[in-house]
Amino acid sequence: MDRHPAQIEPAARHAVPTEFLNFIDGCQVPASGGATVEVIDPSTGEVFTRIQRSGAAEIDDAVRAAQRAFHGAWGKLTATERGRLLSRLAAAILEHQDELSELECRDTGKPMVQARNDIAACARYFEYYGGAADKLHGETIPYAAGTTVLAVRVPHGVTGHIIPWNYPAQIYGRSVAAALAAGNCCVVKPAEDACLTSLRVSQIALDVGFPAGAINVVCGLGSEAGAALSAHPGIAHISFTGSTATGALVAEAAARRHVPVTLELGGKSPQIVFADADMEQAIPTIVNAIIQSAGQTCTAGSRVLIERSAFDAVMARLTERFDALVVGRGQDDRDLGPVINHRQRQKIMGMVDAALADGVKLAARGRLADGAPANGCYVLPTLLAEVDPAHAIAREEIFGPVLVAIAFDDEAQAIEIANGTDYGLTAGVWTRDGARQLRMAHAIEAGQVFVNNYGAGGGIELPFGGMKHSGYGREKAFEGMRGFTTIKTIAIKHG
Ligand code: NAI
Ligand code: MG
Repeated sequence: MDRHPAQIEPAARHAVPTEFLNFIDGCQVPASGGATVEVIDPSTGEVFTRIQRSGAAEIDDAVRAAQRAFHGAWGKLTATERGRLLSRLAAAILEHQDELSELECRDTGKPMVQARNDIAACARYFEYYGGAADKLHGETIPYAAGTTVLAVRVPHGVTGHIIPWNYPAQIYGRSVAAALAAGNCCVVKPAEDACLTSLRVSQIALDVGFPAGAINVVCGLGSEAGAALSAHPGIAHISFTGSTATGALVAEAAARRHVPVTLELGGKSPQIVFADADMEQAIPTIVNAIIQSAGQTCTAGSRVLIERSAFDAVMARLTERFDALVVGRGQDDRDLGPVINHRQRQKIMGMVDAALADGVKLAARGRLADGAPANGCYVLPTLLAEVDPAHAIAREEIFGPVLVAIAFDDEAQAIEIANGTDYGLTAGVWTRDGARQLRMAHAIEAGQVFVNNYGAGGGIELPFGGMKHSGYGREKAFEGMRGFTTIKTIAIKHG
């Protein structure tokens, strides 16, 4: 797998501005105090641009702009017209795919192939919700004689979107496209580690005809701009993707204002491999599901549960693959890029080192590409074995390229281990036995269960969200768009 650096040379083909401004009311605006935050390329550890360090004042400007658009130009559009604008934006994102992929690669460190996939997925969200916008129907309800009851779906108004850094363009698309399709106007607070594609796509939206104020993007630190957004009285719904701790803070702030939230908070998703599984399919999928985005994926398959009779054989195949994995700069398109920053790198290494100190076995580790910059945020992909399912490394989210392998004896034990964490986002089941596929799928506590396939980050058409500490509310699919509406009941007595 030691492929050679791809065609794209380090000097990106599209020049990156030295500073990015906020995007409010269709204008590029600096933060009022003039403060900025340095943006680091995780592949090199070097600062390559700056974003605005905004706070309550900029959030307030953005909310007001969104309110004006909601009661003005955006609110006056029919659902069909909204859908057409979303479709136009989908096409424009693909026209800008090279530029946007380079930005995403630089900002997050992810390999170019993955950055390109993420931009395509962002476009796909706008395509999907562009088509769905005028297909969101209300209901009529039989009620008292001489009375007609309408249950009408209405948008919340101005929605807040707190986006993480692991899939910035995808999660922007997932949340903003669904909210806009349902008729809302948006204030987006991307993560300070990766704001650039949110800013750029929002500018492209204006360029293709979106009214000013329909989408606003305010950059800054989570504790400042993010907290101000969660607390703003003009925000009628918040969708948040990120850590469980920050999710609780956002939900608390929203609860004080009695505003609904959708929380997507990560997981510790199991890949459950029975001895009868098709290993040709299972093994590469399992490896990919933990190295994609360097393991910084909410749905990363971060535990592999293996039936004991097949344990050694499966581990031999996984070990062979892990040993061959190469980590390098995003633009060199190796198997993995760096993680997002040095803090994340230290967190991951700290968890792995603590597990090794506790006697967990290091089964395999990939290597760093020759010439990888010394100050890049690199973590070697790591396969751990002989892991006690009760150990922290088997229960807590690592958010890095670390796979822990655990043996099980039978279905009941597999279910017990699979459900033995606080999380419940996604699971993979690998078996040819049809009845077992269904028994497992029903028994596993997770928002999504994949059988003989796995969908880390994919499946725009599939309702997605967590159980337990993985969060609540559903995104993607029609369900995601419904979440950005509420029902107004209109009862008319006409005799
Ligand atoms: P975080 O949850 O703090 O950041 C996510 C977003 O929340 C960012 O946009 C951030 O600016 C914002 N934010 C931070 N504090 C806020 C506050 N007080 N009010 C409102 N918004 C706030 O996550 P962080 O610190 O970047 O990463 C730590 C861990 O979180 C990771 O190691 C990983 O385990 C988890 N995580 C999970 C993600 C997922 O996809 N489920 C995505 C990102 C992080
Ligand atoms: Mg960055």
